[in-house]
Amino acid sequence: MSDLKIAIILGSTRPGRNGKAVADWVLEKASARTGAKYELVDLADYPLPHLDEAMPPAMGQYANEHTKAWAATINQYDGFIFVSPEYNHSTSGVLKNAIDYLHAEWNNKAAAFVSYGS
Ligand SMILES: Cc1cc2nc3c(=O)[nH]c(=O)nc-3n(C[C@H](O)[C@H](O)[C@H](O)COP(=O)(O)O)c2cc1C
Repeated sequence: MSDLKIAIILGSTRPGRNGKAVADWVLEKASARTGAKYELVDLADYPLPHLDEAMPPAMGQYANEHTKAWAATINQYDGFIFVSPEYNHSTSGVLKNAIDYLHAEWNNKAAAFVSYGS
């Protein structure tokens, strides 16, 4: 059986963010494990607008090229480690928006959540 592919999704994009160092640390620690390959998916590299799909994502009818590209990215992974800043006692808007774009691509996959704040 081939190795599982796990995405470490970095949910902070602001200039001067601490999140990149956190995600790099998670990637380093995770990569020391066997049985899975880990890759960083930095949302700064996927500039999605505020959700602009007409159909709910559960319908799987993506109209926009940025949605199709994001779906193709996420679809290739077997699981996810979300690395999220704590903004106002919640996750970041960027991460929530990126999650809301898709449905099937997340479904029935393992996920963990790493949250950091001040
Ligand atoms: C908009 C905003 C809201 C924040 N809200 C919280 C909070 O509710 N709790 C907390 O512990 N830290 C909070 N912080 C501090 C951040 O968690 C901390 O600065 C962290 O480094 C942010 O991640 P980033 O540097 O990757 O953006 C907030 C920071 C920002 C910018």
